[in-house]
Amino acid sequence: MANVKGLKRTTKTLETVKTEFLALGLLQGQSLATVTAGLTRELRASVTAAAKIETFKGKSDECILVYGNADIKRIAVFGLGKKSELTTDDFRKAGARIMNRANGLKVKKITVDTASFALTSKLLLQAFTEGLMITGYEFLNYKSDKENEKTVQTVELLGKPDAAILKKVTALSKAVFLARDVSNHPANVATPTFLAEEAKKLGAAPGFKTTIIDESKFEALGLGAFYGVARGSAQPAKLILMEYKGGKKGDKPFALIGKGLTFDSGGISLKPGANMDEMKFDMCGSATVLGVMKAVAELQPKLNIIAAIGSTENMPGGNAQRPGDIVKAYNGKTIEILNTDAEGRLVLADVLAYVTDKYKPAKMMDFATLTGAVLIALGNRVSGIMGNDEALLAEIKRASENSGERVWELPLWEDYFGDIKSKIADIKNLGDGRMAGTISAGMFLKQFVGDTPWCHMDIAGTAWGAKKPEYLPKVGATGVAVRLVYDLLENQVK
Ligand code: BES
Ligand code: MG
Ligand code: ZN
Repeated sequence: MANVKGLKRTTKTLETVKTEFLALGLLQGQSLATVTAGLTRELRASVTAAAKIETFKGKSDECILVYGNADIKRIAVFGLGKKSELTTDDFRKAGARIMNRANGLKVKKITVDTASFALTSKLLLQAFTEGLMITGYEFLNYKSDKENEKTVQTVELLGKPDAAILKKVTALSKAVFLARDVSNHPANVATPTFLAEEAKKLGAAPGFKTTIIDESKFEALGLGAFYGVARGSAQPAKLILMEYKGGKKGDKPFALIGKGLTFDSGGISLKPGANMDEMKFDMCGSATVLGVMKAVAELQPKLNIIAAIGSTENMPGGNAQRPGDIVKAYNGKTIEILNTDAEGRLVLADVLAYVTDKYKPAKMMDFATLTGAVLIALGNRVSGIMGNDEALLAEIKRASENSGERVWELPLWEDYFGDIKSKIADIKNLGDGRMAGTISAGMFLKQFVGDTPWCHMDIAGTAWGAKKPEYLPKVGATGVAVRLVYDLLENQVK
């Protein structure tokens, strides 16, 4: 257990606290005396002297560290920058800087005086404490010698911050950790069956029901596109369904759909060898969904939710589908397979159509490491979104602002449909060569959602390997969009 365990609110003050590491914040231009007032005269003098030596002004890249006494062993004052220039995410980054500094000193417990960090709203308190928490993650499951770099286990908070926000942030952070963990496990461990077991664990929470549909049922259910992908693998594919009833009976659910390719070799259209190991992360969309549902299980929002994960490997086994094959999706559309490596859209096609038909969701969102093209278009700082409903897209952009999980919209104009027309079937699983690859994948998905207000998020660039902002891990999965989606869900509660 190397991850930070939680946030602890205390009634202690700067006068009474005992700690190995005390973090204070200072806005640029604010006088140091306003944040050190509660300290002893000796400690105040040490901090003032250090600030003078370092010409510390409270700029956002500045930090002074002072060694104190037996009660307060270290005091770190973090510059926050100018109040008028600070974004919500800057507060998250400030939390991350504290955590990284304390971990660098191998400290186990830290104390943060929230009153000194200019947290003028609940949103800023949430961002700041999220930054503290989600920076305290590392994945050590496969290290025999569990030498942890993230030593901080407890974060004690002075200044009486809002307890409900702390509860939410602790739950959300653990949800992000779950998403990162399931993603970081290798494909020989994190199989479709493993993901199904994770979903079953969540099924024990109040209001939850988990149902697993095995690959053996796919053809009879009409999930021909999903089945086509699943055929090439020895691991049985699973359609994982999680129903959460926290809202009124009869209220249409919000649907969350995840791509859960536990390994994508490309199938018969085999991928090149270089970096193929990274295709264990092709289930990160499903990890996002599991993470959100973990937060839902803990926080019990008053809302109905349906979560669905299409999970399989994409392998070139003897029974694998071939380029040229034609399959029929759940909604009756026929699809010509021109590249077996464009498998995510095939799995999602059936899951989207199935959920639309069975649950008639009010709104639907899917998460998928769908295209390499989104990395070319947007890099790894921002996820691509596209959809069929302006209001839902606007809600998502707002949740993105709140959570600091950036998104950028790409168009799904009707004329892109020409790119996915097949000569022999209704549609094909490829677009126009190398042109607009992320959009043609989105356009493909659009054929399976009917009139449901829907948004697709392509997280191929953001799900792993993005080391910035500083609250993301240096290696492995990021747990992208868990916090964004929870913010969006909260906004659905009437
Ligand atoms: N899982 C990949 C997309 C991917 C590629 C994610 C690189 C992250 C990094 C997806 O199944 C895929 O192989 N897509 C193809 C589609 C192409 C064949 C139209 C791609 O992007 O190359
Ligand atoms: Mg692929
Ligand atoms: Zn894939």
